[in-house]
Amino acid sequence: MTGSVWSPSSWRSHPALHQPEWPSEERAEVARGKLATVPPLVFAGEARQLRSALAEVAGGRAFLLQAGDCAESFHDVSAIHIREKLKILLQMAAVLTYGATLPVVKVGRIAGQYAKARTSPTEPAGDDEIPSFRGHMIHDDAPTAEARIPDPERMVEAYYHSTSTLNLVRAFTKGGFADLLRVHEWNQEFVASSVEGRRYERLAAEIERALLFMAACGIDVVAEQKLHQVDVWTSHEGLVLDYEEALTRRDSTTGDWYDCSAHMLWIGERTRKLDGAHVEFFSGVNNPLGVKVGPTATPDELIEICERLDPARMPGRLTLVSRMGAEQVFELLPPLLRAVRESEHPVVWACDPMHANVFKTDSGVKTRRFDAIMAEIEGFFAACRAERVWPGGVHLEFTGEDVTECLGGSEAVLEEQLSSRYMSLCDPRLNARQSLDLAFRLAELMRAPELEA
Ligand code: PEP
Ligand code: CO
Repeated sequence: MTGSVWSPSSWRSHPALHQPEWPSEERAEVARGKLATVPPLVFAGEARQLRSALAEVAGGRAFLLQAGDCAESFHDVSAIHIREKLKILLQMAAVLTYGATLPVVKVGRIAGQYAKARTSPTEPAGDDEIPSFRGHMIHDDAPTAEARIPDPERMVEAYYHSTSTLNLVRAFTKGGFADLLRVHEWNQEFVASSVEGRRYERLAAEIERALLFMAACGIDVVAEQKLHQVDVWTSHEGLVLDYEEALTRRDSTTGDWYDCSAHMLWIGERTRKLDGAHVEFFSGVNNPLGVKVGPTATPDELIEICERLDPARMPGRLTLVSRMGAEQVFELLPPLLRAVRESEHPVVWACDPMHANVFKTDSGVKTRRFDAIMAEIEGFFAACRAERVWPGGVHLEFTGEDVTECLGGSEAVLEEQLSSRYMSLCDPRLNARQSLDLAFRLAELMRAPELEA
């Protein structure tokens, strides 16, 4: 209950939605025990660094780019998959940083995004209804009832897959691959020949010239670390509380609790209940937090969420991620922006233009339109500008691969092409070309403050 003493397990006396029902409590306890003794994935000091970076976003001096898979797969923990995802993240960040001349805080939905809250508990599989896929942390994705039986040992597997993913992310981002001098190399072959790929080539050439110019002015571009390494932070939805609790550690320098499964965690639209277990758990850890904010959120409820999760009003602690739908954002968001602004909670406002724009085609394929995604971002910017609130960032689902999951884009994916390379385990993702296209349009939007409603 609010007011009672917080501990990593105090969430257990609150209603916990969307938790797996482990078939054996004994095996669940063994898995929790293993996780309680493994090394942390991230350090408290890193989570504090990300909080400082997000404080810059909250103050209107930087922009947040949070993106990655809807659901990561245990089968995709390979160097190629991780490298391709990083390439598109780095490309988008280059477009935004250069295009909008603002620092971009880069946060992946990566190294832990293995659990999903689902609206429907079952889904069709041939003539049968089987339990919906809820992420590899819980069960397998094969379309059989047997594969969908939760297995607690998968939490331990999720930890090890997160570890190897994060290890490679650190190597790529600190070991030369993310060096700005290699800005051309992030353009993938299947992207390079497209309209946005060529546009990227021109931008990369401009960045190169800018670096040469700086060198000619006597600036030592070789010695400047910031040009050769980037910070890519990790995040996932903090859904399975057995997992998050087991990875929570007390920081030896400050004595504060941190959930060491990721730098940033977010609470989903389905689990952000004020009296629920998720809000209770995350109120006590000191990582930067996100909360998804959908169409049913009220101003009062949102202020209470801010009070519960950020009573100290610390800039960078809390990011509110609006996901209203292209058609509703301009109507539903302003009252929420206004209420939070008037309460003086120093939050980051970000836009998730993905989750309220999903629909099924006539043939039953789950998809999103690129145009609706852009329209929600535009509506978000317009709402923020009308309410004098900084449009702080975007939260996207993308992949570095050449998939056909979202419709449209400048080289449009058509409805009849959707099934040709639909590889997502859960929601449809933007492919690398659509992501780059989005980044260019977003940079233009960021440069256009006159776009007021
Ligand atoms: C998600 O981010 O994958 C998700 C399920 O989002 P939401 O909680 O906003 O529906
Ligand atoms: Co999703």
